[in-house]
Amino acid sequence: MANAIQSSTSATRGLEGVVVTTTQLSKVDGTAGRLYYRGYSIDHLAKNASFEEVAYLLWAGHLPNASEISKVREDLVACRTAPSGLVDALRKVPLNAPPMTALRSIISLLGHYDPDAEDNGPEASMRKAYRLTSQMATLVAAFDQIRKGKDPIPPRQDLNHAANFLYMLTGEEPSDIASRALETYLILLADHGFNASTFAARVTASTLSDMHSAIVSAIGTLKGPLHGAANQRALEQFLEIGDVENVKPWFEKAKAEKRRIMGVGHRVYKVVDPRARYLRQMALQLSGTTGNPQVLDIALKLEEVVSEDPYFVERKLYPNVDYYSAPALYMLGIDADLFPTLFAMSRVVGWTAHVMEQWANNRLIRPRAQFIGDLDLPWVPLEERP
Ligand SMILES: CC(C)(COP(=O)(O)OP(=O)(O)OC[C@H]1O[C@@H](n2cnc3c(N)ncnc32)[C@H](O)[C@@H]1OP(=O)(O)O)[C@@H](O)C(=O)NCCC(=O)NCCS
Repeated sequence: MANAIQSSTSATRGLEGVVVTTTQLSKVDGTAGRLYYRGYSIDHLAKNASFEEVAYLLWAGHLPNASEISKVREDLVACRTAPSGLVDALRKVPLNAPPMTALRSIISLLGHYDPDAEDNGPEASMRKAYRLTSQMATLVAAFDQIRKGKDPIPPRQDLNHAANFLYMLTGEEPSDIASRALETYLILLADHGFNASTFAARVTASTLSDMHSAIVSAIGTLKGPLHGAANQRALEQFLEIGDVENVKPWFEKAKAEKRRIMGVGHRVYKVVDPRARYLRQMALQLSGTTGNPQVLDIALKLEEVVSEDPYFVERKLYPNVDYYSAPALYMLGIDADLFPTLFAMSRVVGWTAHVMEQWANNRLIRPRAQFIGDLDLPWVPLEERP
């Protein structure tokens, strides 16, 4: 047998610590536990900004002034209605399809209807960023209605992005607390450095493919439980635990079985994820007004147990963004399997901003692999093979 050879370059598993390019969009400080969008700490944005302002900030590079913000609101509202052909297509998706799978397919189809689909210029890309952001919310809500045997609820023009989404899910105007909670969630997840789905979007964009293809790549990447489906898995885990009393024995069993605790650990943060602090606060606030606080109590207790466990302490494993997203979204009355699509509805802002940043200074992203297989094997004719 020929020798396996080692190439002169060595592979970094999971590209950990590898700097792929530069970005001005967001800075993740994993040691201090800080996150900035275009230089603004999420501490300011979570407390003061609207989702529309944050979207504009990420796309345009500065906070909008009064006339810019009314224009961005107007433009986002104007493109809320999805092409009718798409709603018909959603009716053909199997009703038991995971919503993320339905979203992946429908965003691919959305590209066919976009008048700017093949134009990668900056103005057309900005228009597509608006349409993708507005219509993704409409399509997620429409699929949820359709799978429940109902007709999609048309978007309202007078509500902000978050409130309109909750309205399209239920047909009822949400409370201020519920819509601000969802808006804060959407703000906190809008961008996050070179996370896996953003990287996937940028790789696709770097081949000079089109915006919709890049977003489809990103959705497919976000769908995994190690990334955007961790919020759904975290909720399933809290529901499986079932009662605060069960937390400790459940945790000991999970550890013995070497199960991962969903919503815990992060590639970059070695402290508590700064977004988790806000989501925890939000969940606490919601527990006083709506829903079932039991899930939150379980999450709080499990965090306490994890934070005292030497295995987790040594590895610096703390709650990440998905941990408290789970009880917060649950208390907003959102179905668990929709959670990853809500993550996508927020991150689409970052994805589209990254695609535009990539195209502003493009170079094909094409890393290498360290080859560790055999070489120069002798050819064996078919009849002589074992
Ligand atoms: C986020 C995540 C994928 C990061 O992974 P990573 O940087 O590649 O880290 P690794 O998988 O190499 O894990 C490092 C160590 O911590 C352990 N670990 C990481 N996350 C863990 C978790 N959630 N539960 C238990 N152990 C965990 C690993 O088993 C490994 O231990 P070892 O050194 O003894 O082998 C990982 O922490 C995880 O799977 N978390 C749960 C899923 C999740 O919440 N994802 C959302 C991320 S925002």
